[in-house]
Amino acid sequence: MKKHDVQTIITALGGRAQLQALLSVGASAVSNYLARDELPQRAVGPVCAALRARGFTVDPTCLEIIGQRVPAAASVPLDNPHMAGNRQIANGATGSALLDTHRSSGTGQARVLLIVGGGIAAYKALGVARRLQDHDIAVTGVMTRSASEFVTPLSLAALTGQKAYTDLFSLTDEAEMGHIQLARQTDLVLVVPATANLMARTANGLADDLATTILLATTAPVMMAPAMNQAMWGHPATQENHAVLVARGIDMIGPDDGGMACGEEGTGRLSPTDGIVDAVVAKLAGRHKALAGHHAIVTSGPTIEPIDSVRFIANRSSGKQGHAIAAALAARGAKVTLVSGPVSLPHPPHVTHVAVESAREMMDACMAALPADIAICAAAVADWHVAGDTSGKLKKDHAGPPRIELVENPDILASLSAHKKRPQLVIGFAAESENLQANAAAKRARKGCDWILANAVTRADGSSVFDSDSNGALLLAGNSCEDWPQMPKIALAERLADRIEAHFG
Ligand code: C5P
Repeated sequence: MKKHDVQTIITALGGRAQLQALLSVGASAVSNYLARDELPQRAVGPVCAALRARGFTVDPTCLEIIGQRVPAAASVPLDNPHMAGNRQIANGATGSALLDTHRSSGTGQARVLLIVGGGIAAYKALGVARRLQDHDIAVTGVMTRSASEFVTPLSLAALTGQKAYTDLFSLTDEAEMGHIQLARQTDLVLVVPATANLMARTANGLADDLATTILLATTAPVMMAPAMNQAMWGHPATQENHAVLVARGIDMIGPDDGGMACGEEGTGRLSPTDGIVDAVVAKLAGRHKALAGHHAIVTSGPTIEPIDSVRFIANRSSGKQGHAIAAALAARGAKVTLVSGPVSLPHPPHVTHVAVESAREMMDACMAALPADIAICAAAVADWHVAGDTSGKLKKDHAGPPRIELVENPDILASLSAHKKRPQLVIGFAAESENLQANAAAKRARKGCDWILANAVTRADGSSVFDSDSNGALLLAGNSCEDWPQMPKIALAERLADRIEAHFG
């Protein structure tokens, strides 16, 4: 049957992982196919189906790709020399179809992680996956063990053009894409159908399979489309789980009333595909644009204050919290100026990063960034700097240790709060070792900021908030004091961004 080019097929499928998933083989088998430049005969059926699902016209006798219509689903890299060299694709109309497709899969593309639950409505999740891609949304599929009794991972992989992750998540997969990464690298998690069992496990915080682990680890918004028998839906246990999930901020789509697969009538039907897709599109649109037109200044990291040309005073701030806040605001469309002291983190995408060292430099950069609508001072600014000339190196001599005189640094938070171009919403942080709420309230009054997030420097278990990936805080806003439990710093950033969104909404 040889006439096909294995590399071209892999590229058209979206990568080696897709071919592995389609044929249920390991990486070494794919290497062998590439070395021989031939696929086994048994690959013809699934590869043909997957390529057609991605919009390609394929000759089934030899798996040669003849052309491609414009599918929203496909994302074929154009820079692949094998693909570019393929005459049928590189020339004429099919070539421009690829170009458009490539553009639509650029960095701005929204991503949905679709968890397919194990119910009779599971097959409808495939339609949802396809329709989301019509809206230029990249979909990655995850299936519970029982979902794969209803639809195969192969169908989901073929329709999404991405590997479908299942409970058989192997160590190889884990090395390629850890489950935490899977949970994080998405703009939204969608569960279709959300079965009574999956809702119960999520409501109780179980993490006993890949789907529930993702639901526990994700910091992205979660939407669920429940579907089950009407008696199961009406059961107090399901209703309580539903209420818990809604209270935690999960958006429910349906269920609808009507006839069910089991022959009964009532509430519990999966919402129509269009309704689910419209709800997701609206959620993503709102999320991405909610802070558009707003400028936020975020300070992050430590400041370092020179003692001489080689030594400095610093602190333990990692910048993780401030950077996560900048990322969360930028993801919602805000223009973000991130003024950061030296940290070892990459600065988030779509922010204007201003690198500074000392508190005075941070102050100047913040003032230069005005006007702004929002200021969030998450940096651990040094309270003092060394007086006098700090150029040159202090020498160790027989006169004993040098005397270092300290001078107070400008207070950036207080200066922004009192500025004539004061941002409408000014938020500070307070790291306290005791009397968290009272000290934070006093600090808010002293600094003149609107909200303050207060966290304990040392937690109950003795660990420090600095350099940790998690944080818990009290939010003092207006007359209220909210207790935000320990959570990943990324989640805390999202929660703060939600509050800011509500403030400006
Ligand atoms: O006074 P204290 O350092 O406890 O206040 C903490 C808050 O004030 C944080 O939001 C911090 O970023 C901000 N701050 C500032 N400039 C300073 C000192 C603190 O912006 N010089």
